[in-house]
Amino acid sequence: MKLFDVYPLNDITITRALGSYVWDNNGVQYLDMYGGHAVISIGHTHPHWVKRIEDQLGKIAFYSNSIQIPLQQELAYKLGLLSGKTDYQLFLCNSGAEANENALKLASFHTGRKKIIAFSKSFHGRTSLAVAATDNKSIVAPVNETDNIIFLPFNDEDALKNCFQKQGETIAAVIVEGIQGVGGIIAATDSFLRLIRTLCDDAGAVYIADSVQCGYGRSGQFFAHDAAGVHADIYAMAKGMGNGFPIGGILIAPHIQPKHGMLGTTFGGNHLACAAALAVLEVIEKENLISMAKQRGMYLMSQLKTINGIENLRGRGLMIGFDTPEHLKGLKKKLLTDFNVFTGEAKPNTIRLLPSLAITRKQCDEFLDALKDAIAELSQNAQ
Ligand SMILES: Cc1ncc(COP(=O)(O)O)c(C=O)c1O
Repeated sequence: MKLFDVYPLNDITITRALGSYVWDNNGVQYLDMYGGHAVISIGHTHPHWVKRIEDQLGKIAFYSNSIQIPLQQELAYKLGLLSGKTDYQLFLCNSGAEANENALKLASFHTGRKKIIAFSKSFHGRTSLAVAATDNKSIVAPVNETDNIIFLPFNDEDALKNCFQKQGETIAAVIVEGIQGVGGIIAATDSFLRLIRTLCDDAGAVYIADSVQCGYGRSGQFFAHDAAGVHADIYAMAKGMGNGFPIGGILIAPHIQPKHGMLGTTFGGNHLACAAALAVLEVIEKENLISMAKQRGMYLMSQLKTINGIENLRGRGLMIGFDTPEHLKGLKKKLLTDFNVFTGEAKPNTIRLLPSLAITRKQCDEFLDALKDAIAELSQNAQ
């Protein structure tokens, strides 16, 4: 049987990983500045994470959500403490798209309304409503098309005000990334997020903070939305939550009341996933990784600023983007093939850096040296 061909692949087979390094089947070492697409939060195969999963595996990996699973309570408690959202409620699922799908569905149940506001360049996942709220027509199947999503320009306060003025009473939710990831590392302005909060309050709509990529400490705060001093009604989380073990979830504000039948899941919140997620939070706390993300991010930004050829440097914490001019358009590929460094990209010409929150200063320097050399070689070839 052949695999369904879903992505253009690099011809590399990774067989081992530790911290911010991965190794291929020939033993070649790579520096991972991409974190497997912002997923690796505490570092690949962190020993505490491995042990907690192994210990749990020897006890029980899964039983359905028809019984008490104290690990879920433990996770909710720890997540409340680290995120500061102690009075929120937790629903667990398995991925980022699922988290947003459940957030949107819950907002509609809660308000009894159908319209969702989403923004230009947003990415919310590939399930039916999440993909409909994603600003990329090419990944929306005909069956996912709906009139219920209103797309507005990102960070455009007037457009948002106008929309609420015209049809505020029909709006179930506004869904917004604190820092757009797939869209190219574009931060929502503080005043835009505050306006969303005010307009949602006035209209009785739900503010959904898609924190799947920018959450879990990556921005240097638990949620990127925290920088604006606002509390969303629902936070969607996934990527960094399990450090590679599939788990997602939503944090739900206390005024949104649960009713049996609203949400449900077979695999969400299983014993093994909770053990992995607890290990992640324990390491984030013990190794002070949110503050480390902030520090390392500031260091990388201060150094990147000095490198010729980099344009429009932006981001917060360990969610950094910059654009490359025409003569550097092969930079991502060169970094990978000639310097063994994984980075991410966003169309048309953005390099995205999404390393583990535990990346060391030495590894940052290693990356910066590789970047400078790669830029120098590409510039020389262009002359
Ligand atoms: C902001 C955001 N939301 C949702 C998703 C979808 O997450 P998943 O691929 O786990 O379904 C992603 C994935 O890149 C994302 O970046």
